[in-house]
Amino acid sequence: MRALRFDHFGEPTVLQPTDMPDPVAAPQEAVIQVKAASVNPSDVKNVAGTMEGTVLPRIPGRDFAGVVISGPPEWQGVAVWGTGGDVGFTRDGSHAQLMTLPVDALVRKPERLSFEEASSVGVNFVVGWLGAVEAAQLDEGETIAVFGVSGGVGGAVAQIARSLGATVIGVDRRPPGPETPAAAVIDDFIVFDPAADIGAEVKRLTGGRGAHVVYDAVGGVTTAAALASLAHRGRLVVISAVGARAVEIDLIDLYHNETRILGSDSRKLDVVESARRLQRISPYFENGAFRPLPVAASYSLEEGAVAYKAVADRIPAAWSFGPDIQPIQSRREATKMSSNLTEQTITEAVQRTFDTPTDERFRQLFVCLVQHLHDFAREVRLTGDEWFTAMDFVERVGKVSSPTRQEVMLLSDILGFSVLVDAINQKSGSSVTDSALLGPFYVEGRPTADNGADISGGVAGTPMFVTGRIVDEQGRPIAGAHVDTWHSDGEGFYDVQQTEKLHDEFAMRALLTADDDGRFWYRSITPRYYPVPTDGPCGEIMRAANRPVMRPQHVHFWIHAEGYQPLITQLFYRGDPYIGRDAVFADVQSLQTDFVRHEPGIAPGGTTIEEPFVTLDWTFVLAAQSDGK
Ligand code: BEZ
Ligand code: FE
Repeated sequence: MRALRFDHFGEPTVLQPTDMPDPVAAPQEAVIQVKAASVNPSDVKNVAGTMEGTVLPRIPGRDFAGVVISGPPEWQGVAVWGTGGDVGFTRDGSHAQLMTLPVDALVRKPERLSFEEASSVGVNFVVGWLGAVEAAQLDEGETIAVFGVSGGVGGAVAQIARSLGATVIGVDRRPPGPETPAAAVIDDFIVFDPAADIGAEVKRLTGGRGAHVVYDAVGGVTTAAALASLAHRGRLVVISAVGARAVEIDLIDLYHNETRILGSDSRKLDVVESARRLQRISPYFENGAFRPLPVAASYSLEEGAVAYKAVADRIPAAWSFGPDIQPIQSRREATKMSSNLTEQTITEAVQRTFDTPTDERFRQLFVCLVQHLHDFAREVRLTGDEWFTAMDFVERVGKVSSPTRQEVMLLSDILGFSVLVDAINQKSGSSVTDSALLGPFYVEGRPTADNGADISGGVAGTPMFVTGRIVDEQGRPIAGAHVDTWHSDGEGFYDVQQTEKLHDEFAMRALLTADDDGRFWYRSITPRYYPVPTDGPCGEIMRAANRPVMRPQHVHFWIHAEGYQPLITQLFYRGDPYIGRDAVFADVQSLQTDFVRHEPGIAPGGTTIEEPFVTLDWTFVLAAQSDGK
């Protein structure tokens, strides 16, 4: 089986997808085929080594949903779900294709929940139940204030409390999203601000009495406000501590109020004990009273480290496994609250400013960007001088840029970022032609040309005959596809770099149209390797790094056809001395080919050529528009 496994603690990257022997069920055990699993913040902490009692090496993962594939006959083929404070810590967890469980831990998955949904319930609802029902014994008609209500545990507690007939006041930095289950069950919401008097607001909402129960899913930064929100003999449930472990408590207030403080730790419930709780919770999912949190992102098991990183960065995420590789899911976690703008807290303060409900993707991009940008500065201990140099550099990159000078794009190219984005969006395992960056020399308004035309614009050089065919993934021709092509001359210069010599005329570029068989063909001159522009700020970087500035010989293509995803690519001469050393990293192997040299004779199209010439032939495969590449 495949599994994520770690044999030492560290960053999510210590989790390596590994081939392991299939686990075998001992007596009184069952083997589960994991269909979906989620990544909880505590899984991330487990791998980081900040949870107690982990025995290495270990497959992590607390929550799961799957199917019993071996064990007692009455359980064979049954869909089950679960979680456990020992799972992923002292017994192997769910971030694998298979896992074993004690038979006593088997609980039928609510039919109403998909495997993905079921796999994201465990920790949140078990600790929610443990704290609200078992520890605080919340009762019908009581009021509960839930701190961190927009997070995973808070959302579970709000639903549990509502099902018990309690009034629910949600407290958080931001309200739960309108689509979340918590939003549907809270009676009031208070924005958490450490400077605000939250206790007074809770008392105002409860007619001066205060909440019978406060469930604090944050802890530390919220403890004072949580205590101040309690009614006489109120119960405070504490499940975690964000920020400082130690807090000041006014003992006189505490005993006058006869406050009860109750710690609840889901880790103390092993997989069998947790199963008993899930058994009690199941009917509420079955009848729709409880809803799982929305799954926000999915990853395959092979991408486990990325899923962990997303949770570590507190990007709401969740995952689903493909048919044969299980995915991992992460979920919205409890909101952490802090207001001190120190090196440690500034990142979160900035991220909070992107808490806009208008566009989730925008929020995700900026929260993650801020995280990595800040982490970068912290990791390298960036000095003020270095920061200033960087700001000046970025400003100069912008200033030197113009419609004909794309220094910003060049910066992305020389840092390998353009190729990275291409690679991320490339559909792996398909026959679609790989893309390669556009580069700065594409020009709009280029001339159109008929098939067979000479597009060299009269520039001297070794004749080159290009023949191409454009097909779909099934190999069917794409008639009428438009083909933009452009390349340098035999000295490595594009037309736009020699406008004076060429009297502002276009050369070595054209827009062609494929015939009914998807074919296009043209004559031009053979290009050569050339340096990327080095006379601007990007040149300074390349010189300082002492790195190659050349691009191997290539021809550019930009192919568009209705119903297909546009393809921007390049074909490289595989015999070029700069292959493998492309200054912008675009010369991937799949795009390397022969620029075949021929002695004088008959060229494609039947013309007799009196000098040596070159031919280049390629079939371009386009992805259909709906393919989501
Ligand atoms: C080009 O191939 O035209 C090119 C691409 C990236 C940077 C510089 C040039
Ligand atoms: Fe180029």
